[in-house]
Amino acid sequence: MIDLAIVVPTFNEKDNVDELVARLEQALDGIRWEVVFVDDDSPDHTSDRVRELAQAKPHVRCVQRIGRRGLSRAVIEGVLATSAPYVAVMDGDLQHDEALLPRMLEQSRRAGVDIVVGSRYCPGGSAGEWEKSRARMSWLATRLSRLVVTAQLSDPMSGFFMMRRELFQSLVRDLSGEGYKILLDLFATSPRPLNFVELPYTFRSRGAGESKLDSAAVWEFMLLILDKAFGRVVPARFAMFGLVGLSGIAVHFVSLLAAYRWLELEFPVAQTVATFAAMTSNYALNNSFTYRDRRRMGLRFVTGLLTFYAICGVGVIANVGIASLVFARDFTWWLAGAAGALVGVVWNYAISSMVTWDRR
Ligand code: GDD
Ligand code: MN
Repeated sequence: MIDLAIVVPTFNEKDNVDELVARLEQALDGIRWEVVFVDDDSPDHTSDRVRELAQAKPHVRCVQRIGRRGLSRAVIEGVLATSAPYVAVMDGDLQHDEALLPRMLEQSRRAGVDIVVGSRYCPGGSAGEWEKSRARMSWLATRLSRLVVTAQLSDPMSGFFMMRRELFQSLVRDLSGEGYKILLDLFATSPRPLNFVELPYTFRSRGAGESKLDSAAVWEFMLLILDKAFGRVVPARFAMFGLVGLSGIAVHFVSLLAAYRWLELEFPVAQTVATFAAMTSNYALNNSFTYRDRRRMGLRFVTGLLTFYAICGVGVIANVGIASLVFARDFTWWLAGAAGALVGVVWNYAISSMVTWDRR
């Protein structure tokens, strides 16, 4: 029987694993616990290191995910892999203060407490030595998060918290799972306000390795906010796909201008060049942002592009077909055009999500 599981998502944290486990052992003396590492098949073989450790320590476990990336979804799978009544989520790079865990558990057990959050921004906490740009981003993200979460959390971006597993499980099917803000996702998903307690801690600087949260993480964050704000009406991915499509129109016209006016190509040739430029840029943008978690790379990038061309080709036929149909009944050109474009984008979205960016 165990009391507590610590779920640690990892990507290339091999050199931090031993130290983290050692620190947990020290901090959690007297508590029955296990640590579940959820590793996304790290190239540095973090999971092998975890399994090696687990040979000697039964309270160390490893969930290895293949062909997938994503902090939030990794956390979800880790929580689902344990039967401990309390679960904590913690980074694998030693930035979170493990000494806080016993107090988090104590607070979690109090009646009426749903979730205990480690906070850098409540009195007594500190974000440590941060670059100015990161601090500013964090501040902005905190403001934005207020769009979907009304709870007055001082650190809604925290990746360090503890809750009852049962409560997590009751929300898990409705979580967005996008991006890396699992705490925010939980608060935005719960149908009733969650009663939270905040405990201050000092965010340390990372152990070995480097941060994985690059600029694309900002997009993922926007995706989560969109999904939670409007997801019931328009899925966030579709909204993103539509935005990329709009950017494609711009690419199309700039390319057409360049090909026809500057390079003085024949119009049909120029139009073809522009069409391919737009499809290619749409593909690349969707691949980097809309489907970042299923991103195609290397040879798969190229094969994906070919499927995308094919899908868009059929999309054009559907688009023109529907538009002509509408136009034949009602001669409003812009209505017919919009109907065609909508059918085209829905087709492209639906089919490319299943073919080009299938979950495998
Ligand atoms: N399984 C898995 N898959 N783990 C991942 C992935 C992924 O795609 N991306 C990152 N991780 C793991 C890292 O290995 C690390 O253990 C933890 O998630 C946090 O990632 P970092 O790359 O260290 O993120 P950070 O330090 O920039 O951000 C942290 O602090 C932020 C505070 O602003 C995270 O805790 C954020 O959630 C938090 O908002
Ligand atoms: Mn980190």
